[in-house]
Amino acid sequence: MKKVSGLMQIGDLKIENPVILAPMAGVSDYPYRQIIREMGCELVYTEMVSSKGLVYGSKKTEVLIDYSTGEKGAIAVQLFGEDAEVMARAACLVEKRFQPDIIDINMGCPTPKIVKNGSGSALMKDPERAGEIISAVVKAVDIPVTIKIRKGWDNQHINAVEIALIGEESGARAVAVHGRTREDFYSGKADWGIIREVKEKVNIPVIGNGDIFSPEDAGKMVEFTGCNGVMIGRGARGNPWLLKRTSHYLKTGELLPEPDYRERIDMALYHLKKAVDYFGPEMGIPKMRKHLAWYIKGMPSSNKIKERINRLDNCEAIEKTLREYLVSLGEKG
Ligand SMILES: Cc1cc2nc3c(=O)[nH]c(=O)nc-3n(C[C@H](O)[C@H](O)[C@H](O)COP(=O)(O)O)c2cc1C
Repeated sequence: MKKVSGLMQIGDLKIENPVILAPMAGVSDYPYRQIIREMGCELVYTEMVSSKGLVYGSKKTEVLIDYSTGEKGAIAVQLFGEDAEVMARAACLVEKRFQPDIIDINMGCPTPKIVKNGSGSALMKDPERAGEIISAVVKAVDIPVTIKIRKGWDNQHINAVEIALIGEESGARAVAVHGRTREDFYSGKADWGIIREVKEKVNIPVIGNGDIFSPEDAGKMVEFTGCNGVMIGRGARGNPWLLKRTSHYLKTGELLPEPDYRERIDMALYHLKKAVDYFGPEMGIPKMRKHLAWYIKGMPSSNKIKERINRLDNCEAIEKTLREYLVSLGEKG
């Protein structure tokens, strides 16, 4: 297996472990990012943040960015928007207030709400505007600016290479490529060929993204595309170990064991505690329901446990249910 050569340089920022947590709205919040950090992940992305929300001072928006400044490792704050001036103002504000390591521009979000305003993956259809936004943001901040793109808008409009080149010319210091079109949303298989094409054409680091569900997938992506780093999204839901196992595999070629049932339940409860400490029980418990379901997904009768947990509204009852579940699986609870 071809090993990742190690260092990925984004502007002046050196990333030694280029196995990266993808931005995921509603998932990659502060407690989850902390857990991912504890798995040795060096670069994490926030979920996408509205540039307008920031500029107009929405507190709700700022919570999405929150992180402890003492946190080890690098953080990219991802912004979305369709107006170059607002994006530049938002980037400047984020840089001053939160001092992240990177500002990333979302050019891949497929949801109608985002696209109808001309932001997210709609920017793939409007290269001129995309270039203006990237240039404006680059000019507004001192930290490196990166972009996250898709393969194109649809199969008739595959232009990831064009957009990546525009990004590079406009001053972006890295490009993450998700090998699906906007029309694909998340269906079908990600096309890693487009990641390879982008890698062949640009001189900035390329981060490959799409369908990494195991360390071996990441190894295959690196081998096939030559990408400088890999970005993991859905595979890390309920499975933060994937980041650590992938880094280890890419470095050494050796596969670490998968977590057992006990580790999964322990992690689920640890994550629950972190989320409730941070958000409070009223917000934290509903937010955690999907995560808890992901942690136990694939375990025997997990659907029944998931339904039971979904009716519970306090941590003690959730813990009791999960511990009893573990005992029922033949593990000491
Ligand atoms: C629930 C969810 C939320 C997402 N939110 C964002 C987002 O805020 N910004 C973004 O650029 N991509 C977002 N994505 C896309 C992922 O970052 C990633 O590109 C995609 O899931 C493909 O990678 P994967 O196959 O490893 O999941 C989201 C994906 C999911 C499943």
